[in-house]
Amino acid sequence: MRTSTAASWQSYWQQADEKKACKISGTDHPAISQFWHKFFSDARVGAKSAPDNLRVVDVASGRGAVFEHLFALGDGACCDAVCVDLSHDALGAVRDRWPAVSGIVANGAALPIAEHSVDIVVSQFGVEYAGVDAVVALCKLVRPGGQLALLLHHRGGAIFKECDDNYVALCEVQKSGFLQGAMNMFPHAFNVLAGGERSEYERTSKSLIPAFRIMERIMAQYGRNVASGVVRKLYLDIDHIHTNLPAFDRQEVDVWLRQASRELQYYTERMNSMRHAALDDQQFEVLKAEMADFGFELHVADALAVADHSAPLAWSVIAEKAQNNGRGCR
Ligand SMILES: C[S@@+](CC[C@H](N)C(=O)[O-])C[C@H]1O[C@@H](n2cnc3c(N)ncnc32)[C@H](O)[C@@H]1O
Repeated sequence: MRTSTAASWQSYWQQADEKKACKISGTDHPAISQFWHKFFSDARVGAKSAPDNLRVVDVASGRGAVFEHLFALGDGACCDAVCVDLSHDALGAVRDRWPAVSGIVANGAALPIAEHSVDIVVSQFGVEYAGVDAVVALCKLVRPGGQLALLLHHRGGAIFKECDDNYVALCEVQKSGFLQGAMNMFPHAFNVLAGGERSEYERTSKSLIPAFRIMERIMAQYGRNVASGVVRKLYLDIDHIHTNLPAFDRQEVDVWLRQASRELQYYTERMNSMRHAALDDQQFEVLKAEMADFGFELHVADALAVADHSAPLAWSVIAEKAQNNGRGCR
């Protein structure tokens, strides 16, 4: 994975509390809660009657969305819960929420976890960011008799489509030169405010007009809320600062613009990494064959279809590793 993408996730989790920078609408669909609720209930992980100290690992956990479902079923004290993610900040948030959960900062492509050492491995829209090989490699971590439960991005699914639209819209925003144009204009606008000459301000503000029109076209084409409303917010904020310039500080506007530009770049990268992470039909078939080869019985291995979307939300997997199968110890 490119370092810049790791930086983009780190930046996301640093700000996730404040602005939910890239909330993808499908990821909180009730079908997802139902999937985990059923899985953890059937596996009896959160139950008082559960076997002692089951080791449960969530790979690319973020702030622990999967464990929320697990802990909703019981106090979680019966299991040794571990979250793994690239992002320190995501794991910091996990620690703040559940001090007993361990956090490991690691790339999903090279997990520092021993083979056959985990009772239950889970991942939700996570491990596939490290590549399909990383998804297959999870099979090795599961001990004989253990389970693997996954929700993976589906190429052509509803979440994929949203990420793809966001990505294309964000690329168009970047290409429009809207933020760069604002960065060029504001210093001259502040100069005019301080009594300086107008010609450079007039030139730069005029050359920003086509970018404003492109922003309006992007919102009309992809919807006003495209990319979690970031496009609309940039458009409105820059217009607001321009119209109310005396109320703003020159340095603060400069810092804000630079930060907005960096965030736009990160957001675009995250959307692109989601597009690349999504598995197509053929990759999912290969994954199923690999899991069978590792000695897993596939209880669920299908697209997660929901009534309110014509496309599936995800690929879903619930698989159990045979107790005594030579290939299970591959
Ligand atoms: C879409 S978020 C999902 C987070 C969480 N599983 C959830 O459902 O809310 C993807 C997560 O994968 C993490 N991530 C991305 N690439 C990764 C990699 N190569 N290895 C480990 N984690 C990664 C990101 O930091 C982020 O937390």
